[in-house]
Amino acid sequence: MEFAKFLKSFTILLFIGCTLVHGSTPKHYIIYMGDHSHPNSESVIRANHEILASVTGSLSDAKATALHHYSKSFRGFSAMITPEQANKLSEYDSVVSVFESKMNMLHTTHSWDFLRLDSVYKGNHIGLDSTSNVIVGVIDSGVWPESESFNDYGLGPVPEKFKGECVTGDNFTLANCNKKIIGARFYSKGIEAENGPLKDVNKIFFRSARDSDGHGTHTASTIAGSIVSNASLFGIAKGTARGGAPSARLAIYKACWFGLCSDADVLSAMDDAIHDGVDILSLSLGPFPPQPIYFENAISVGAFHAFQKGILVSASAGNSVFPRTATNVAPWILTVAASTVDREFSSNIYLGNSKILKGLSLNPIKMEGYHGLIYGSAAAASGVSATNASFCKNNTLDPNLINGKIVICTIEKFTDKRGEKAIIVRQGGGVGMILIDHNAKEVGFQFVIPSTLIGQDAVEVLQAYINTDKNPIAKIYPTVTVVGTKPAPEAAAFSSMGPNIITPDIIKPDITGPGVNILAAWSPVATEDTVEQKSVNYNIISGTSMSCPHISAVAAIIKSYNPSWTPAAIMSAIMTTATVLDNTNHLIGRDPNGTQTTPFDYGSGHINPLASLNPGLIYDFSSQDALNFLCSNGASPSQLKNITGELTQCQKYPTPSYNFNYPSIGVSNLNGSLSVYRTVTYYGQEPAVYVASVENPSGVNVTVTPVVLKFWKIGEKLTFRIDITPFVKSNGNFVFGALTWKNGRQRVRSPIGVNVVSI
Ligand SMILES: *[C@@H]1O[C@H](CO)[C@@H](O)[C@H](O)[C@H]1NC(C)=O
Ligand SMILES: *[C@@H]1O[C@H](CO)[C@@H](O)[C@H](O)[C@H]1NC(C)=O
Ligand SMILES: *[C@@H]1O[C@H](CO)[C@@H](O)[C@H](O)[C@H]1NC(C)=O
Ligand SMILES: *[C@@H]1O[C@H](CO)[C@@H](O)[C@H](O)[C@H]1NC(C)=O
Ligand SMILES: *[C@@H]1O[C@H](CO)[C@@H](O)[C@H](O)[C@H]1NC(C)=O
Ligand SMILES: *[C@@H]1O[C@H](CO)[C@@H](O)[C@H](O)[C@H]1NC(C)=O
Ligand SMILES: *[C@@H]1O[C@H](CO)[C@@H](O)[C@H](O)[C@H]1NC(C)=O
Ligand SMILES: *[C@@H]1O[C@H](CO)[C@@H](O)[C@H](O)[C@H]1NC(C)=O
Repeated sequence: MEFAKFLKSFTILLFIGCTLVHGSTPKHYIIYMGDHSHPNSESVIRANHEILASVTGSLSDAKATALHHYSKSFRGFSAMITPEQANKLSEYDSVVSVFESKMNMLHTTHSWDFLRLDSVYKGNHIGLDSTSNVIVGVIDSGVWPESESFNDYGLGPVPEKFKGECVTGDNFTLANCNKKIIGARFYSKGIEAENGPLKDVNKIFFRSARDSDGHGTHTASTIAGSIVSNASLFGIAKGTARGGAPSARLAIYKACWFGLCSDADVLSAMDDAIHDGVDILSLSLGPFPPQPIYFENAISVGAFHAFQKGILVSASAGNSVFPRTATNVAPWILTVAASTVDREFSSNIYLGNSKILKGLSLNPIKMEGYHGLIYGSAAAASGVSATNASFCKNNTLDPNLINGKIVICTIEKFTDKRGEKAIIVRQGGGVGMILIDHNAKEVGFQFVIPSTLIGQDAVEVLQAYINTDKNPIAKIYPTVTVVGTKPAPEAAAFSSMGPNIITPDIIKPDITGPGVNILAAWSPVATEDTVEQKSVNYNIISGTSMSCPHISAVAAIIKSYNPSWTPAAIMSAIMTTATVLDNTNHLIGRDPNGTQTTPFDYGSGHINPLASLNPGLIYDFSSQDALNFLCSNGASPSQLKNITGELTQCQKYPTPSYNFNYPSIGVSNLNGSLSVYRTVTYYGQEPAVYVASVENPSGVNVTVTPVVLKFWKIGEKLTFRIDITPFVKSNGNFVFGALTWKNGRQRVRSPIGVNVVSI
């Protein structure tokens, strides 16, 4: 999800919260019925209406209350019914589960250069058109089809396996699909049933796959945008824009409106996408933390069906800043964190004493001349405390004091709306803003007046100047794009962190990729957060919503290169080849202060597309393995049925969860010594020898047996044992190390995370 939108969605959510909770008023429920044996969708819908009629009283009531029918990839429906009716339905044998539909939030371009994507294509002699058989489904806010990024120049016919459609609607005709955007569908029944009619929101929208929000256009073009030269945001970040897989096809599923996506709509999109024949599903959205249990979460259930059908689901971890907030953490989902690239947008401050302060911002506006400086705290309106005025909130500043000045404001909370402070300064006659923002200054925001963000170093110099000069003045310069900055990448300050609160033996997130200040295509009608609310065709935004499509694109390249690989194999290739070092060869730090990170920031590390094409060894697992994993976490047969839709029995002694063949290694409750097992499959041509190398977690000894693995041919599997011997308790925290298999050319690395409960 995009960071700025994340701030906004909270206000909307509070509003929804008040309208929902009443006794027997109807709510929107998802009735999930598992796999189906019906011959066609019509017969599923007929059967759905019949079962619904048995609780609503009549077939016509049933038809009126039913909203979505899931009839393609699994069976079910959603309906506005009372909790009592929902309860009755849940007692039917054919009904697997009934749960309330909840709201999700929507969570270059140079980033591809930073990932050395050119070497992926050149080094492997892959044509840029090699991904043209891969179809990526994007569930988001739709698409702006006229964007240059979606031209289909040079693309061959739509792949025959595609069974999707180009659904027409407001300002969206069949002509808006082409050989790039090969499918387009939209879903609004859920959000309208839960939040009220879309038109009541009083913002521009299209009842079609056309995007009025910008977010979906941005994510889709990051994945598979065509090559467009001379793209920029007001000249900032100018360069060639392109998606990571510029010849991959896009199937657009619009399930998000004004930054929110109803579970029932997202599930309907997943049902269609699986049926339509997508290869990869990209979801830059997720539930509001905490993550719900998998058995009652639409994305987890839908993603399980996708996984079973061989489709990788790549999803954003969220922008919730703190530990334990990562979402989309089921083991059959690739969970994506966000990090920076080696590019900065400097908008520096020239002081009257000729000192220059480093500021960061997306600020194209040229400020004429120098202006007086004043702290918001020194410009408090009457009756307002200096502290309250320092945050530059509405009605706290005295216009007489700030008129014609540059106002220095401070962030109160991480989630402050930064753009709004500039609007308030301008309303009072201010001409510029310096925002003291220790925690998010790396994130590029846009403002209505020249504004820039500073951190601690600059604050001290600024303060010294203002304290010693009777008439302090300054000028804010427009943004200069600086590339090659160090250190990079760094974990983004906003990126949601592990541990995984549902199944802590699985380290989450899994991977990180570029998610800070990403330039990609935009909807020209989405002007709410752009400079002076101007219409733009390319925009720079930040979030795990932006890193997720980078990973989805790499997955698309891997899939085109290895069409038979399972989703788990693609996950393994991406995770085991990731790097945890930055461009200064130190462990990746976390913004804003470069603090020490762990796999709970970025999982296995920062994506390395080139290495991920030839991972050497693969940790594979099937959907049955995933079910065994849930069994060992105590899932009952009826809970499993909630995921699979079928009666699923656990083995009497399921494989312990730490032996689930995941590409990272986690033990959330380690009581003394433990042996953990993994199996790797060899994907190389020549015979090869891999040697294990271990980084011990602090207070823990790890050994691997055998320490050497010899492979003769492709597809060969070997199992090894990891003996974990703790000698210091870790006080409820995880300690981390790693296991790396090396053959002189490839490095196959798995982080190890253990919480030592007793020794
Ligand atoms: C299955 O999901 C429903 C929610 O629809 C929940 O009430 C029920 O407890 C779940 N079953 C199990 C066994 O967890
Ligand atoms: C959408 O279509 C309507 C009716 O044809 C037209 O008036 C309007 O300008 C179109 N909007 C956009 C943004 O193209
Ligand atoms: C690039 O775009 C800018 C406007 O954004 C335009 O002034 C310039 O001429 C363009 N350059 C080329 C080479 O097309
Ligand atoms: C400062 O703001 C807080 C919270 O908005 C409010 O409760 C308090 O009364 C304000 N104090 C002054 C002196 O304005
Ligand atoms: C500030 O409050 C005034 C009313 O007191 C309102 O007209 C204005 O729109 C508000 N500005 C912002 C940015 O919220
Ligand atoms: C980073 O450093 C600044 C200045 O020392 C401090 O105010 C801020 O809280 C730190 N942020 C984090 C996340 O540690
Ligand atoms: C450690 O002991 C706890 C409590 O008895 C148990 O829940 C957990 O599964 C044990 N861990 C392992 C790895 O066996
Ligand atoms: C851990 O390994 C070190 C070095 O190999 C060894 O000296 C120590 O005895 C080991 N500790 C345990 C508890 O096995």
